[in-house]
Amino acid sequence: MGTPRIWTKAFVGLVSFCAIGQAQTPTSSTTSSTSTSAQFTVPASANSALPVIPNIKDPLAVDAQAECPGYIASNIQQTSSGFTASLSLAGDACNVYGTDIEALELTVEYQTADRLHVAVQPTYLGATNESYYLIPEGIVAKPDVEQSNVVSDLEFSWSNKPSFGFEVTRKSTKDVLFSTKGKKLVYENQFIEFASSLPENYNLYGLGETVHGFRLGNNYTKTYYNADAGATIDVNVYGTHPFYMETRYFTENPDGSLSPDILLEPESITYRAIGGSIDLYFFQGPTQPEVTSSYLKAVGLPAMQQYWTFGFHQCRWGYKSWSDLQDIVDNHVKFGIPLETLWTDIDWMLRYRDFNNNPVGFDTATGKSFLQRLHDGGRHYVPIFDAAIYIPNPSDPSDAYPTFERGNQTGSFMQNPDGSLYIGDVWPGYTVFPDWLSQGAEAWWTKEFLLYYQDTPFDGAWVDMSEVSSFCVGSCGSGNLTLNPVHPWFPLPGESSNPVLYYPEGFNVTNSTEAAAASAAIASFSSAYPEPTASSTVSYFRTTPTAGVRDVNYPPYVINNVQGALGRSAMSPNATHADGTLEYDMHNLWGHSILKATYNALSAVFTGIRPFIIGRSTFAGSGSFAGHWGGDNWSNWPSMAFSIPQALQMSLLGIPMFGSDTCGFADNTDMELCNRWMQLSAFFPFYRNHNILGAISQEAYRWASVIDASKTAMSIRYQLLPYMYTLFYHAHTTGDTVMRALAWEFPNDPSLASADRQFMLGPSILVTPVLEPLATTVNGVFPGLIEGTEKWYDWYNNTAVPVPAQANTTIGAPLGHIPVYVRGGSVLPLQQTALTTRDARTSPWDVLVALDKNGNAKGDLYLDDGVSVQPDATLTVQFAVQDRKLDTVISHGGWIDGNSLQNITIWGVDGIDSAVKFNGRNVSSSNVMFDSDKHTLVVFGFNVSAWAGNQWTLEW
Ligand code: GLC
Repeated sequence: MGTPRIWTKAFVGLVSFCAIGQAQTPTSSTTSSTSTSAQFTVPASANSALPVIPNIKDPLAVDAQAECPGYIASNIQQTSSGFTASLSLAGDACNVYGTDIEALELTVEYQTADRLHVAVQPTYLGATNESYYLIPEGIVAKPDVEQSNVVSDLEFSWSNKPSFGFEVTRKSTKDVLFSTKGKKLVYENQFIEFASSLPENYNLYGLGETVHGFRLGNNYTKTYYNADAGATIDVNVYGTHPFYMETRYFTENPDGSLSPDILLEPESITYRAIGGSIDLYFFQGPTQPEVTSSYLKAVGLPAMQQYWTFGFHQCRWGYKSWSDLQDIVDNHVKFGIPLETLWTDIDWMLRYRDFNNNPVGFDTATGKSFLQRLHDGGRHYVPIFDAAIYIPNPSDPSDAYPTFERGNQTGSFMQNPDGSLYIGDVWPGYTVFPDWLSQGAEAWWTKEFLLYYQDTPFDGAWVDMSEVSSFCVGSCGSGNLTLNPVHPWFPLPGESSNPVLYYPEGFNVTNSTEAAAASAAIASFSSAYPEPTASSTVSYFRTTPTAGVRDVNYPPYVINNVQGALGRSAMSPNATHADGTLEYDMHNLWGHSILKATYNALSAVFTGIRPFIIGRSTFAGSGSFAGHWGGDNWSNWPSMAFSIPQALQMSLLGIPMFGSDTCGFADNTDMELCNRWMQLSAFFPFYRNHNILGAISQEAYRWASVIDASKTAMSIRYQLLPYMYTLFYHAHTTGDTVMRALAWEFPNDPSLASADRQFMLGPSILVTPVLEPLATTVNGVFPGLIEGTEKWYDWYNNTAVPVPAQANTTIGAPLGHIPVYVRGGSVLPLQQTALTTRDARTSPWDVLVALDKNGNAKGDLYLDDGVSVQPDATLTVQFAVQDRKLDTVISHGGWIDGNSLQNITIWGVDGIDSAVKFNGRNVSSSNVMFDSDKHTLVVFGFNVSAWAGNQWTLEW
């Protein structure tokens, strides 16, 4: 699979030199215009930084292991949960990439029986505080000691030979899970390094956010520096989740920690950080569900979502008016395609300013009546909110922007080191950025949402550009505000010098004439706008440490940041928070902080209701506030395929509400790709079609075949909504996963360790999508089928899959068909498909039983009002099948669901007794259908509401 192209905003490369913080003088005039005046375009040089070479690629890099002395531990003090020790330099300071810290404090604590915490931080934090950054409690709740004197299967041991190193082993199996022994600890004010050995050919998962195969492989560097660089494969992207799970067949081990460069090498993992402290948490497991649950209990269990959020969402950059949105609704209705939520991109705003509706197209009066109709129809509306806030042009009184004024008055924005406002450049022009460490920012953000809601009764928030992205290096707007509103240095997609021309692989076969025209257009465009050629004689900028002083813009150790220098395409590291903290120390937490602030804001707008937020930049624990989408992917087949490992990774990291831009964001999609993708995403928790400005339209109804394919897959999804909701309830209460890797569900099968072209939705549904163009079949596995431990049923023909001759089976999958299987042993409560989740929720119930090879099955159901943070009324149902009897036990917690019971369908039935009995009484034979060829029993005609009593039974 090729690497997707990147669209202009994510352009990565080295351009000409310009120091951080340098103001831009006007060097070019108009390239585009607003209705009021000619618009100044920021020169491309505004996003230029000094060229740096990542340390891992630098032939001149110094090996800290060779130069540094390591530490010696002494002064061991027992505590009720473990011990502390002092670490002191074992020789002369090496000062390789910073200033060595002579005295460190080691803390080892068993926080719970399944969680071990190992921390190393400077002893004298006060001395030069900014050099020794510890994450403030208010931003990320750090897990603490919950029990003392616990009995754990994890054992910590250490030694001073040849210098301090430690080992974590599993007592019961003697497995060494993590060992720094033999490698030196390096701890400087701008560089930390430690490493652990790993078994040969280890299986490691997590280390998100990354677009990569599910199993990370043994030659990979994971860099943590949140970046606006598209969903690009193998680079640092939007979020930071320094957690990994290692699977050993027969033994398993997880670990979590934080660092900008993590090097996975054949038999080791190396952490290299440019700040912060060492905070490692070991989760005992030993199984994946136990590891995930322990991890999520430590960082924050996933937020429960409102029921409607599992409906289908339609979005694009380029919906220009309420009437565009009305057309979208009308067309979905016309073609009978479910549609739950309409989204608007930055088009809804007046000149891209948050909380300001564009009176042209999105005026609030029309909006109110449109939204009233939308809500009456059971549908919802989610607008985008960007991280950056426009700063008005001081020489233009008509440019006033009250949102900025209110934030500025409360000191809510980031500053330069000299106390002036830090001014970057995003969609609206020169902008400021909320300072989530300031006293005022959260209250200001909440107030803006409250005010906005009065005019536009929205239903959720889409939070974007939150890495935090800025299109220039440093405070480029300082001194330039009279040019505002400026246009970014790159053309927007669809503008004449940036046309959207590309189509997916395979388009040339299915649409040869259009493809030829597109190729010709690409060729002529490429000759008119040739790619800049990289200079062959780049001389890299390297810094060396100055004693006790940090160089935050160009640290001596250069991480492998996709954007090059840290200040490129992001807020600069020397931007300063109200308490003096530098952005350098907070960078990876900015996106998490805005999600938390937005969660609080929506909690104020919708009292008692679960906030629905989809955010771009996330950190460990963000799942308890928000869901996430995979960012700017491409309308191509690799992007679709990679959406599966992206989703599995987010499952592991506690953000189950995940989905990718369906049909693809950048470039043009085509009928075939959109057909397959609409079907695939129907099995992801967050299901949204989103498109870039200027690309061809890609709503499902644009192609007859995509209408059919979408309706087919959506029909399954909507029937499964109660199952999806119940999975989320378990994720929210215990840390269970929703989308699951085959490797987790079948932990004893090493052949599944890398499987990421198939996945499971919960424990019961297996999805085997087509991920290639022009295919009519797909290869997939049915775990456990050959071995005889499992049974799988084809969703569409209700029969058990025959035992295949070999593991990788070729499955028929013509366009419009997505293979979906139900695992034997499952009981699935289903409702009927409908155009909205509201209507699906009031439809009759079916119960689908897929028997396992022993004739058993189980399942459950959770219901409540679907919206409340703390529902005061719930209903749970437990299903269990044994000895040809389905037992249904209903627990009433006050939630009443009056919908009737329609069909009970049982797959895998060998034969039935003379009479089928419901609650011990014979069911009329006219209400029983048994197909002995298909082994399918269907019982109907109950005339009862499904969950009214305390229990019911069915025997056959
Ligand atoms: C960013 C978002 C994308 C959005 C665009 C315009 O690139 O990731 O989804 O469409 O900005 O707001």
